Amino acid sequence: KLPGSVRIKEVGPRDGLQNEKTWVPTESKIAWINMLSNTGIKEIEYSSFVNPKMIPALSDAREVGKQIKRNPQVTYSALVPNQKGLEYALEAGVDGASVFMSASETHNRKNINKSINETFPVLKGVIEDAKNEGKYVTGYVSTVFDCPYEGRMDPEKVITVCDRLLELGVDDLSLGDTIGSAVPSQVENLLDVILKRYPQEKIIMHFHDTRGMAIANILTSIQYGITRFDSSIGGLGGCPYAPGAAGNVATNDVLYLLHGLGIETGIDEKNIQEASLYIQSKLGKVLPSRSLLANAQ
Ligand code: HMG
Ligand code: MG
Repeated sequence: KLPGSVRIKEVGPRDGLQNEKTWVPTESKIAWINMLSNTGIKEIEYSSFVNPKMIPALSDAREVGKQIKRNPQVTYSALVPNQKGLEYALEAGVDGASVFMSASETHNRKNINKSINETFPVLKGVIEDAKNEGKYVTGYVSTVFDCPYEGRMDPEKVITVCDRLLELGVDDLSLGDTIGSAVPSQVENLLDVILKRYPQEKIIMHFHDTRGMAIANILTSIQYGITRFDSSIGGLGGCPYAPGAAGNVATNDVLYLLHGLGIETGIDEKNIQEASLYIQSKLGKVLPSRSLLANAQ
């Protein structure tokens, strides 16, 4: 049985832009996020408060956060790796802080320069302080299916990280197919374990579309009862510290699927098309979303 509605978080301004070589000027980012705020999207991850040397494309997170025009219907969040990031995020304005780590030891180290065990005390402080400020906290777990360095991940490793993040107080978990390698049977195997352990509404699936499997994986997740997904306009994106990771599943394609199945999202596909064409023109390249391409013809 299909759900009546599904929640989509737009991560294009963060996961999308973080991997782009072309600098998008701050005022264009702001104009674009303002467009996204009027598409019916209810959740937007607008930037990352990380070391700007590691993610130069988002080095203007503070300016962006301070200048976007906030729609009261929309929740704005950003990626926060440590206390310094949280301090900047609070100053720039966030409704939610997203902490992140990996199920894979090697990916965790490459991405945030710490072992898994060294990461928890840092996130403990961030989560506590964010909650004390009344912020919503999402915990991203990367490489839940496969790691570019360690290969196939054991669901037990994913569970260990998820358990600890929930103990530390995250409100929900976003499970990342960081390199876009999973097929539906892997999604089923992981969700079999996850949904026995945690309530369905706490789980968000975050698929990258490197091998074109994301839509199949989303449909599988929906059939398992998942109703929350991350996606990125036009299919922008990738993780610069995971070789071979391409963009997130395209918001455009997810909407085509969901609306076609009669599942509500509250998001207007025409507005999404317009916002896709806008960022495409700023990046000077054609974005990978198939629906975007089909509608542009
Ligand atoms: P570190 O090098 O261990 O930290 O980095 P540090 O405390 O030693 O600081 C090093 C330098 O960074 C210092 O500057 C700090 O001031 C600065 P320097 O003295 O060299 O000039 N710094 C900061 N600057 C601004 N804001 C901050 C901040 N923190 C330190 N918050 C750290 C540790 C975690 C900070 C670093 O490794 C980092 O920034 N990593 C981020 C990597 C990243 O953003 N990756 C992509 C996002 S994750 C992703 O895409 C996956 C996801 O989409 C889910 C999925 O698909 O699976 C979420
Ligand atoms: Mg990602």
